[in-house]
Amino acid sequence: MPSPTHLDVPALRCLGITHRFGPVRAVDGVDLEVPTGSFTSLLGPSGCGKTTLLRIIAGLERPDAGTVEIDGRPVDGPGLSVAPEERGVGMVFQAHALFPHLDVGRNVAFGLRDLDRARRAERVAEVLELVGLFGLEQRMPSELSGGQQQRVALARALAPRPSLLLLDEPFSSLDAALRASVREEVRSILHDAGQTALLVTHDQEEALSITDRVAVMFDGRLHQLADPETLYREPATREVAAFVGDADLVHGARAASFMVDTPLGRLATVGPVESDEVTVVVRPENVTLRAAEDGGATVRHVTFFGHDALVAVVLDDGTTLRSRSGPGAGLVRGDRVRTTVTGPVVTFPRRSRSPDAVPA
Ligand SMILES: Nc1ncnc2c1ncn2[C@@H]1O[C@H](COP(=O)(O)OP(=O)(O)OP(=O)(O)O)[C@@H](O)[C@H]1O
Ligand SMILES: [Mg+2]
Repeated sequence: MPSPTHLDVPALRCLGITHRFGPVRAVDGVDLEVPTGSFTSLLGPSGCGKTTLLRIIAGLERPDAGTVEIDGRPVDGPGLSVAPEERGVGMVFQAHALFPHLDVGRNVAFGLRDLDRARRAERVAEVLELVGLFGLEQRMPSELSGGQQQRVALARALAPRPSLLLLDEPFSSLDAALRASVREEVRSILHDAGQTALLVTHDQEEALSITDRVAVMFDGRLHQLADPETLYREPATREVAAFVGDADLVHGARAASFMVDTPLGRLATVGPVESDEVTVVVRPENVTLRAAEDGGATVRHVTFFGHDALVAVVLDDGTTLRSRSGPGAGLVRGDRVRTTVTGPVVTFPRRSRSPDAVPA
């Protein structure tokens, strides 16, 4: 058993990590801690620097500045760079990660060359059992389904018992139906193994549904690190608000310290309104619609999902908005409706001269 002091040391600590590719600041002063035993995700849009940060942690890329510690041991910093294979990290990549000419057993045994034959075979069987592929040692990767291949890749990364497992978009090569089940499996496998892991994804649903902590990145910077619920209810920046969950951003003016005037009427706010002009975050599930000829809004289109529907409306002043409503709402394009916002809203000081549009 690790001692309590050992548990206080995070599995990963990055401080001030910066990396440029020519003029592009791919990673810009990122501080990130991953507690031992946690499943943390690094979430952000394409090109925001997630893979670069992961490669730096793995030792596949040197940072221009900053330090990396794994299990309290410095592995990167000024004048220091520990080789990737000596960092105690395992990696799982997006696709084609298995050696096609080696069978499952040999793929999984790849990182176990230090063990004698018997102990190697024992560990291979153990991790294959963990990922639900016991007895498939002799199969070739080409004889496995996409989901099974991904589980072999996971078994191979887990086999040497890494301090930290890094996963870069590991589910993106799977089709939608398989992706949902494989990621649930991976979550429970990591949990059962007590494995600390950092998952890179641009899919917010994936980050929110399977990890305990989510670090959100934009343009090389870390905007927020929080549990999924906090991220959703108390986004630290408007980029986080718009990227995590569905949100429409509308213009607001301070009416009182916890009150804003918006095209949707006067709304209560979660926190104090910090400036005269603000951007207001409106979540579709907080917008209800009622048919009303003089309601001041028109239905533009309805997207039906079975369990609910997303109804896009345009207010008479041109403001666009979405409402998530039950399957029986019965609204169709062109219907006149009245909008009501329930619950307090999050606001951010309005940026001078910038439109409300944010990177999606
Ligand atoms: N080897 C490279 N040479 C030059 N620029 C690079 C290189 N690798 C990445 N970049 C740039 O650095 C930025 C961050 O790239 P990175 O691959 O880390 O993004 P990402 O968040 O992983 O994106 P995605 O979700 O698309 O995988 C991008 O602007 C990218 O174009
Ligand atoms: Mg990437």
